[in-house]
Amino acid sequence: MTNDTQNTTQSTPENAQDTQAAPGTSAAMTVVVTGATGRVGSRVAEAARAAGHEVRAASRSGAVRFDWYDPSTWADALRGADAAFLAYQPDVGAPGAAEAVGAFTRQAVELGVRHLVLLSARGEDQAHPTEAALAEAAGAARWTVVRASWFAQNFSEGPLADAMRESGELVFPGGEVLEPFIDARDIADVVLAVLAGGERYAGRMLEVSGGRLLSFRDAVAEISGVAGREFGYVPVAAREYGAALTEFGVPGAEVEFLIELFETNLDGRNAHVSDGVRDVLGRAPRDFTDFVREAVASGTWKG
Ligand SMILES: NC(=O)c1ccc[n+]([C@@H]2O[C@H](COP(=O)([O-])OP(=O)(O)OC[C@H]3O[C@@H](n4cnc5c(N)ncnc54)[C@H](OP(=O)(O)O)[C@@H]3O)[C@@H](O)[C@H]2O)c1
Repeated sequence: MTNDTQNTTQSTPENAQDTQAAPGTSAAMTVVVTGATGRVGSRVAEAARAAGHEVRAASRSGAVRFDWYDPSTWADALRGADAAFLAYQPDVGAPGAAEAVGAFTRQAVELGVRHLVLLSARGEDQAHPTEAALAEAAGAARWTVVRASWFAQNFSEGPLADAMRESGELVFPGGEVLEPFIDARDIADVVLAVLAGGERYAGRMLEVSGGRLLSFRDAVAEISGVAGREFGYVPVAAREYGAALTEFGVPGAEVEFLIELFETNLDGRNAHVSDGVRDVLGRAPRDFTDFVREAVASGTWKG
């Protein structure tokens, strides 16, 4: 597998346009989208449909029943598909992720899938075995890893956002660390450009982030300012947060993994922006404030 920093794409706005128009690469495909009801997968599915592809929305409750923990559900989702977007649950670096992604990729290739795009996380050492498993199992098929920063949509969708909406506080082990929150729609746009790009992004690690560093406190303050509702930010130790997850019924092994993840990934190593969105799409990432305005307009943080 190639090194991520050396291998980050250097395409320009001009050749990004070429990417969209590359001969023989823009034909309609059948794309399996895992996590298709989630923050990123739902946007990948939407962008793929808008690009004229047939989408197989694959999740436990999706149009195509698919469970990462039940390999008997994989073949029906994959058979006859051209490409697959992989969003592993609960996390790309979780115990068992590398084995599942490797086995899934092997089966996908056997069934004729030619391009696999894995959603991974920037700066997450725990995800490296999963990325390596994808690369090894893909063989001659194209594979691409999209390593994303923290999603802006974590503040608007999912359990953390639900808790914030209900309590008026974001309780999270993010300290005062800076993070370039990325809009999940930008990740989806990058995934679609990768699929349209044929060989251009094959075997590549693309690091994508938002364009601006904010602390979790800054992000919550921006949301409060636009939403017209005061939210607090309560930084807690990762272990304290883990104890709360245990109370909510998250299994012990997952809690231990998440504690380690928060203690490492939120230690400042990711306090920098990455150029992947501009390199691939030839435009700046969507700004966090625009994300907040749109989410407020759709009533996201109403109590
Ligand atoms: N959060 C971040 O900031 C961040 C940053 C970088 C990378 N990532 C990576 O992004 C991925 C998560 O993506 P997301 O935040 O878009 O997901 P999400 O919003 O948490 O949604 C989870 C999706 O996965 C499906 N799902 C849950 N359990 C499943 C299972 N056992 N088998 C099959 N599907 C299952 C869910 O649908 P059903 O309930 O219908 O199954 C849903 O579609 C993880 O791999 C994580 O490591 C996250």
